[in-house]
Amino acid sequence: MEQILTKNYKIELSSINEWSLGEILQKDYPNSKIVIITDENSYNFCLESLLNAFPILEEAEVLQLPAGEVYKNLPLVEQILQVISEHNLSRNDLMINLGGGVITDMGGFMASIYKRGIDFINIPTTLLSMVDASIGGKTGVDLGSLKNQIGVFAEPKALFIDPKFLETLEVVQLYSGYAEMIKHGLIADANHYEELKKVRPEEVPGRLDLIKRSIEIKKEVVEQDFKEGGLRKTLNFGHTVGHAIEGMYLTKSPIVHGLGVAWGMMIEAEIAVELGILPKEDSNSIKEHILSVYPPLKLDSEELEEVMHLIQFDKKNKEDKILCALIDSIGNCQWDVEVGAELVRECVSNNS
Ligand SMILES: NC(=O)c1ccc[n+]([C@@H]2O[C@H](COP(=O)([O-])OP(=O)(O)OC[C@H]3O[C@@H](n4cnc5c(N)ncnc54)[C@H](O)[C@@H]3O)[C@@H](O)[C@H]2O)c1
Repeated sequence: MEQILTKNYKIELSSINEWSLGEILQKDYPNSKIVIITDENSYNFCLESLLNAFPILEEAEVLQLPAGEVYKNLPLVEQILQVISEHNLSRNDLMINLGGGVITDMGGFMASIYKRGIDFINIPTTLLSMVDASIGGKTGVDLGSLKNQIGVFAEPKALFIDPKFLETLEVVQLYSGYAEMIKHGLIADANHYEELKKVRPEEVPGRLDLIKRSIEIKKEVVEQDFKEGGLRKTLNFGHTVGHAIEGMYLTKSPIVHGLGVAWGMMIEAEIAVELGILPKEDSNSIKEHILSVYPPLKLDSEELEEVMHLIQFDKKNKEDKILCALIDSIGNCQWDVEVGAELVRECVSNNS
């Protein structure tokens, strides 16, 4: 079993049968009510394995949410909290979030606002949530097209990962998680980036070493700067543009988060070149790799305008300035780099 210790909790990365979840439930929550938050896919594909491995959870209340980013919003949070309240969950009770990033984001948020906070445990079931979303304490929901606009920082009591859950995942979701892994390499570990370049996203579930390294990078960054005063902003590389593209598609035909991030990294690398921060050959090689894995971005003029509009609303901005995290080499990233809207528009346009 692989274990990664964070300051406040541990991450276990192993077969479900080796998890210490049973001991934790017996020791810390012997008389607690437990609610398991799932979406329709984690309910269908993952819940049974969890209940088989931990019969103690047979008693738990299982709530099944509709799947997808469009449901990551306050109205659904209110509905679910209503149900949780009807089940009389108290301060000493526990929530288990079993699902992708939408479930770990929304579940963590619900746990932290219900009765001013109850404990929660994350069991991520997508690649993206394993290497990224479930780690680092950011929880929340979207507000219309604005991603993650409402939320709180809150950490789980423990986090359990079994890559076996990835077997039922749609391939496009592996591509989504792979983009965040690439980002981890680009911002913090050139060697990780080089190793990732050697594998296709489909091969990642068999590469515990790569999954583990990505988790470690996220954890190391977050531990140095939990509330995102500085260094943590490097995790936003690719996200200023990426979130806007994702937000633009949200009400049309939603794209996976990682695809937005992949395009965002390609465009933001070009912005970094234009600002004289990043050598052009690095940006070219990033673009080449991204386009060897992901389809090209194609925006019409109306979509470009909408993306630009959403970029200006990005919560990472300050006083009307677009602030980006930009890499200055492969494996190192700066943050709070001021970028003019015209340059952003030019680079988005060049790449679409
Ligand atoms: N909190 C953070 O730090 C952070 C970081 C990155 C991303 N995020 C958020 O994470 C979300 C994206 O996460 P995601 O990509 O996991 O999306 P998701 O939760 O929507 O999951 C993707 C799809 O996979 C399905 N699924 C989940 N587990 C499955 C399994 N084992 N087998 C088959 N299908 C399964 C889901 O039902 C869904 O349809 C976004 O909302 C993003 O904003 C948060």
